Amino acid sequence: MEKAAAEDPRFAPLRRHTKALSVALGYRDVLTRRHSERVHGLSAALGERYLLSKKQLGILEIAASFHDIGKIGIPDHILDKPSYLDEDERRTMNQHAAIGEQIIAATDLEGSLEAARVIRHHHEHFDGRGYPDKLAGEQIPICARIISITDSYDAMAVTRSYHKARTHREIMLILDRETGTKHDPELMHIFCAFIESSIYIAANI
Ligand SMILES: [Fe+2]
Repeated sequence: MEKAAAEDPRFAPLRRHTKALSVALGYRDVLTRRHSERVHGLSAALGERYLLSKKQLGILEIAASFHDIGKIGIPDHILDKPSYLDEDERRTMNQHAAIGEQIIAATDLEGSLEAARVIRHHHEHFDGRGYPDKLAGEQIPICARIISITDSYDAMAVTRSYHKARTHREIMLILDRETGTKHDPELMHIFCAFIESSIYIAANI
């Protein structure tokens, strides 16, 4: 069983008020909701092993659960497109990071601005080639660097309209190639050390 993230009581109101958002996300896009739950579990496990503070774990927990909440604002024909997105569609899809930031910031509760900032940056790349702000290395919030790894892992582990599920070994080969460009090498090292014994390991080994 995965160890649960320590719960910081300061963020209890934010956790409570965002529950309705989880339900809304489940109705809009049930696959994204289930993916968000697994990214939450994997992120908490990685954050604990990185020895994040209780406060940072609280922020990570909220941000991981809602990293893709901005997809609520993306049109169905792009969200559900069964093939690769063209340049315009990709630009629209990429807006989900900034839309998610706005949604969580709007709750105006303790921790919401920090969690919103993490959500904005969850698609930044370690080498500065991600979006929306092309941040690099430690400019990217640590919680966003964690979600980048866990989000990538889980997205590849399941079948979606535009790709088939990959095996654990295939995913790890891809993540290994992306280490240092997309992903933080130190975090990847920790991720590799526990994923094989995690309950969130890809169904196909
Ligand atoms: Fe995302």
